[in-house]
Amino acid sequence: MNRRPLAEGVYWMGAIDWDRRLFDALIPLPDGTSYNAYLVQGEEKTALLDTVDPPMTDVLAAQLADVPRLDYVVSHHTEQDHSGAIPAVLARYPEAQVVASPKAKPMLVDHLGVPEARVLTVEDGEAISLGGKTLRFLHTPWVHWPETMVTYLPEARILFSCDFFGSHLATTELLPDWSKAEAAAKRYYGEIMMPFARQVERNIERVRALDLALIAPSHGPLHAEPATVISAWAHWASGPPANLVVIPYVSMHGSTQQMVEHLVGALAERGVGVEQFNLAVADLGKLATALVEAATIVIGTPTVLTRPHPLAVTAAFLANALRPKARFASVVGSYGWGGKTVETIAGLISDLKVEVLDPVLCKGLPKEADLQALEALADTIAAKHREQRLC
Ligand code: FEO
Repeated sequence: MNRRPLAEGVYWMGAIDWDRRLFDALIPLPDGTSYNAYLVQGEEKTALLDTVDPPMTDVLAAQLADVPRLDYVVSHHTEQDHSGAIPAVLARYPEAQVVASPKAKPMLVDHLGVPEARVLTVEDGEAISLGGKTLRFLHTPWVHWPETMVTYLPEARILFSCDFFGSHLATTELLPDWSKAEAAAKRYYGEIMMPFARQVERNIERVRALDLALIAPSHGPLHAEPATVISAWAHWASGPPANLVVIPYVSMHGSTQQMVEHLVGALAERGVGVEQFNLAVADLGKLATALVEAATIVIGTPTVLTRPHPLAVTAAFLANALRPKARFASVVGSYGWGGKTVETIAGLISDLKVEVLDPVLCKGLPKEADLQALEALADTIAAKHREQRLC
């Protein structure tokens, strides 16, 4: 695909990765992704902003075929999907300097073998003139790594935001309507950015202060209505949770399944929204997306060799690592003869700022008393959500 104009002297470049299905050997990408790079040509100098994932270097090289000189290669973020092709670009353009934050410099050297002498560091707020075009750099640490920064081009009112405001979505539409892009953006936020919600919140305030016509991230579509996408991200990062219970569960012989189904029905009768995920078949990206707005997480698990089922352990570990804004958590499940299921799950979610509600564990199949305990748990959750004015 050829480069595409966005404004006078400003082009989208990069590669659409339609077939990628896994990121970091962990995150499912049902809709592929893209590695967006941008070319900014001033009257005197030319800059490339970000590159592509190394397997797609040839695509970028073809787009640069008629670009005789590059003065700068801006590395917003060291991660390989954006900076992995920098060594190839530097080999092609021996005059080019890599522009990066001070924290990025040693990372570019360590992770990608970029020669230290070719890295020019820029402070927060510093600018470089290309001649009639200004690249102003804003440090945005932890959105997504500690060295991350973004670039503002005031003459065109464009923010090149790298991972910030990105989405894993392969599409030839550079500027689809937000209604087409929102689901992928929310999933991306849940999978990638939710652990950094506080940093996202802080940096959103900086972005709001900019005069913006366009947000150009390095994954997925661009955003021609910046206020809409900024508001969505602000809500995900710092808005209140929804009246929603997310139940990741696994069942070996049907007992935990019966408990989950009873709890789901009881919550629905009380006006509480529920999303249940059978971990044996669930898309973990959908689970991460649901966790973005969940007020309560209930993990359903049988006891295996005195502990929770390994799939429930994975879900608890994931929830703990993603740090959603949930306010309550509990455990339901079935055991054969005993064990430490609840203690183990509680230990796995120790980073979540949640009130732990009384768990409901039963021996074998759930009996009437166990179903009553699930009704009581549903009562408690509904009351807690009402107290928090979530419904
Ligand atoms: Fe798209 Fe954090 O890299």
